[in-house]
Amino acid sequence: DWTADNIADEQIERIRAQVGNGKAICGLSGGVDSAVAAALVQRAIGDQLTCVFVNHGLLREGEAEQVEKDFVASTGAKLYIADERERFLTALDGVTDPETKRKIIGREFIRAFEAAEAAIIAKEASEGEPVKFLVQGTLYPDIVESGGGEGTSNIKSHHNVGGLPEDLQFELVEPLRTLFKDEVRAVGRELGLPEEIVGRQPFPGPGLGIRIIGAVNEERLSILRKADAIARAELTAAGLDDEVWQMPVVLLADVRSVGVQGDHRTYGHPIVLRPVSSEDAMTADWSRLPYDLLSKISNRITNEVDGVNRVVLDVTSKPPGTIEWE
Ligand code: XMP
Repeated sequence: DWTADNIADEQIERIRAQVGNGKAICGLSGGVDSAVAAALVQRAIGDQLTCVFVNHGLLREGEAEQVEKDFVASTGAKLYIADERERFLTALDGVTDPETKRKIIGREFIRAFEAAEAAIIAKEASEGEPVKFLVQGTLYPDIVESGGGEGTSNIKSHHNVGGLPEDLQFELVEPLRTLFKDEVRAVGRELGLPEEIVGRQPFPGPGLGIRIIGAVNEERLSILRKADAIARAELTAAGLDDEVWQMPVVLLADVRSVGVQGDHRTYGHPIVLRPVSSEDAMTADWSRLPYDLLSKISNRITNEVDGVNRVVLDVTSKPPGTIEWE
């Protein structure tokens, strides 16, 4: 039967059968999927696996630390960290078109990952064994939504599925291919991953880069990170993490509106809250969050985040709106 325990055991057996004595690498994105995939493979083959974390600087507050400290502490995995924040900021400089942003982030991610990979391959080869396997945290819905399934179209480029180079030199290990998100979380808990990682709501690969409507820069990232951290903390404090599928927080960086704070006129940016309920992200409805909670989030963001003087709520279902704004 389908307990998390059974799924984990079965996948660990399969991974061992596929990989044998071979070496593998796994990219960690900061998200649940890659963390659970890596934890499964780590449990199956131990130090034959090296995890790679490319910090693209588009993560939310605290997320890089969760990978660099908590993931390693709970799994004992071998981790290689590539700090590539500068690379991504430079490549995204002045870019506003959503698909262009996605393509740049996808392309730079592959380059950064390949550079990290080359360093690991060289190191592992010097210890006698080439790296043959690449672990991916691909879920069942990723395959369907990226046009891998029948009768689907590619609405947005999901770079974790569509963006692999064609001459891939690795054999893929995809232990989550048949699973949905809730099953992945259950397996992660079974493997002892901390709740901050396992309970995390879905977060897109291109990160905050596609939640800044307008060009991405460090100042805007910092504004969005603060607003997002407040919104997430209040949602958690209200006990609504399980009811809300995810709540993107979006910065309308090219829009400004007039406000008043104390006796000052302000001219600041709006923040959009996009809480949605969903089963699998293919369709979604906007979440009817309690007014008290919305009010608290709004007050805190406008009081605590410099540069933001207005908070608005997105009340669009999917379709016609997608969950993310870009
Ligand atoms: P949309 O905006 O298409 O999002 O309704 C559906 C779900 O997918 C997530 N998302 C992504 N996940 N790479 C990912 O790994 C991506 O490029 C990406 N774009 C969107 C989004 O957060 C939502 O859960």
